[in-house]
Amino acid sequence: MDQKVSAQQASGITVTRVGANLGAEISGVDLRQPLDDTTFDAIQDALVENELIIFHDQEITSEQLMAFGRRFGNLSVHPFSPNDKDVPELIKFANDANNAPFGTDVWHSDETFRESPPMATVLCAKEVPAVGGDTMYASMTAAFEGLSDRMQQFISGLEAVHDFKPFKKLFANTPEDRKNLQHFEMLYPPAIHPVVRVHPVTGRKVLFVNPQFTMAIKDMDERESRSLLDTLFYQALVPEYQFRHHWKPHTIAMWDNRSTQHYAIHDYYPQRRIMERVTIAGDRPTGVEAADPNTVRRFKFKAPENVDHHGGHAPQRQFRRELEKAED
Ligand code: SIN
Repeated sequence: MDQKVSAQQASGITVTRVGANLGAEISGVDLRQPLDDTTFDAIQDALVENELIIFHDQEITSEQLMAFGRRFGNLSVHPFSPNDKDVPELIKFANDANNAPFGTDVWHSDETFRESPPMATVLCAKEVPAVGGDTMYASMTAAFEGLSDRMQQFISGLEAVHDFKPFKKLFANTPEDRKNLQHFEMLYPPAIHPVVRVHPVTGRKVLFVNPQFTMAIKDMDERESRSLLDTLFYQALVPEYQFRHHWKPHTIAMWDNRSTQHYAIHDYYPQRRIMERVTIAGDRPTGVEAADPNTVRRFKFKAPENVDHHGGHAPQRQFRRELEKAED
């Protein structure tokens, strides 16, 4: 029997895949309780395998949420998020008519402006709007797989510059804030990451650029860099690589920040949406060597032979049927 399946069976959890390229629901565990090693291992395996895991009906306290996160590693502190004033590891998104959501309605992996971005994020829904407020996820493993051989070869070995630029608008144009901003610029200078990252556990290749924090491709002309980044950013927009998560109160989603991007849909504003989040510290991303152009790989999202790859859809068209009939 597959080792992971037997680990799941021993732990008593059930992992049900809900998305084609990412996303699984996990039942049979109470996250208010400390996790024994077997259950923890099964959840960790499910996270890297499915990239996004979802637990329903988990009415947990902030302390229990942090304890769950700490099981995976040290919690990191987001420098620019609305953190709890006593416990900075805990982010509290409390959005309503008086506090519009900020900065999460753009595709991103969390905090890639750091030299070592977080390995995973855990988000817990406390209060959700009557309609809207879903979160979109994209598998950047599938996004990489979906690129042509030529593009995969071309971007292998490239590096990109990541910066916390979007958060700079949180600083006012006052002497004090200019000084504060300088302090954070010293603390978080632009980070250089591989464009194609190798997942440290699965060894899968991941497209590791995002429109929120990736500013440029290193050593490229600005126009070349912009046009390549636009092409690569587009990959997260392909519906086949996405999963849309609809929140209910007490649902917890945990994503592998090394292999996914996400986008919080701000369509619920000015309704109320209250979420709590913790983030687990990660390693410095490792890239791939520049690819040998002579290597050929299996193309997972290959279009059927007789159709143009663009769009990848190949329904039989009526005019073709009529032409075929006329030829008979
Ligand atoms: C985020 O971590 O980017 C926020 C996601 C969300 O609020 O759905």
